[in-house]
Amino acid sequence: MRRFWKWAGLVLASVAVLALAAVAYVYAASEAIIAHQYPLPLSRVHASRDPKVIALGQHLVRPYGCADCHRPHLQGAFIPDFGVSSRNLTRLASTFSDADFDHAIREGLRPDGTSVAESMPSDAFQYMPDADAAAIVSYIRSLRAAGPDIPPPSYSFWQRVALLKGAIHVGQYWFPLQKQALDLGARYARARQMAMTACGECHGTSLEGQSMGPPPHPPNLSIVASYNRADFLKFMHTGKAAGNRELPMMSAVARVRISKLSDDELNALYDYLAARGRKLASMGK
Ligand code: HEC
Ligand code: HEC
Repeated sequence: MRRFWKWAGLVLASVAVLALAAVAYVYAASEAIIAHQYPLPLSRVHASRDPKVIALGQHLVRPYGCADCHRPHLQGAFIPDFGVSSRNLTRLASTFSDADFDHAIREGLRPDGTSVAESMPSDAFQYMPDADAAAIVSYIRSLRAAGPDIPPPSYSFWQRVALLKGAIHVGQYWFPLQKQALDLGARYARARQMAMTACGECHGTSLEGQSMGPPPHPPNLSIVASYNRADFLKFMHTGKAAGNRELPMMSAVARVRISKLSDDELNALYDYLAARGRKLASMGK
């Protein structure tokens, strides 16, 4: 009997040592990925105090989703769907330079060159023009710092395992997969670029639709060619899709984010998306 206990003890001890080694491996290997520093490109974004520029930034933070994930006053919050917290942008303003903001928004990189968490959709913001980024940073700087500071999210053990398995990603992994949307010339330029930025997070910057987990998937926005103008505007204003349908995600997205665009912008968006849909159909796509 004593021999049995001796062996049982040895086996348990080895299992414990192996488990500890596995945990140590997961932390060390994932830390190498998380702490990797990427080069920070030169930024051309400079904040301004011009009320017109600030007003543009205030206008854009809604359709571009910032005011959704970072909350209307941009003070950050826990996002249950992602299990992470967004950051308090009004507090970051005291330490972030304009370039730091730009790098976070359009490169997905922190001031030290490490990667932000995947849930911050910088891949969809990579085609945002300098002027929009500058307007948004100008607006953030115009806000009074309020609410608690929210630190960057840390990775749990299982998130680290997911990182090693390639189930979640850091470091601009999605950037090259997000292609530009079909270019239909100068007439549609602003609407095309707004669509890439405002719809790209879910429909992909190519607007071709993509899987974001369980269905229904955001479809190819060529579907807009099957909408008439009035139904499209009604959908974007009220969230009611053609046939008065309430959609699982898009109805709320339309009400919270897209309805904040002006009617001029929504009409331009319709012109571009419908023209793109017709063009793709004529190309047999
Ligand atoms: C889908 C949700 C979502 C949207 C949309 C979003 N963010 Fe974020 N953002 C996050 C989350 C989550 C974090 C925290 C991730 C991190 O810092 O690693 C974050 C972090 C940031 C950071 C800090 C990065 C750092 O260095 O820690 C800045 C700045 C930022 N967002 C600005 C913006 C702006 C401006 C917009 C709109 C153009 C925007 N975000 C849209 C979720 C979002
Ligand atoms: C946060 C994610 C998200 C964003 C941002 C988003 N969509 Fe969607 N959209 C979806 C999803 C998901 C669906 C599929 C239906 C559903 O689950 O609600 C969808 C469906 C649609 C449909 C199909 C409606 C139908 O008749 O079935 C249209 C059109 C559409 N979106 C337009 C847009 C436009 C235009 C933008 C940008 C201005 C946009 N969406 C931005 C998630 C999004």
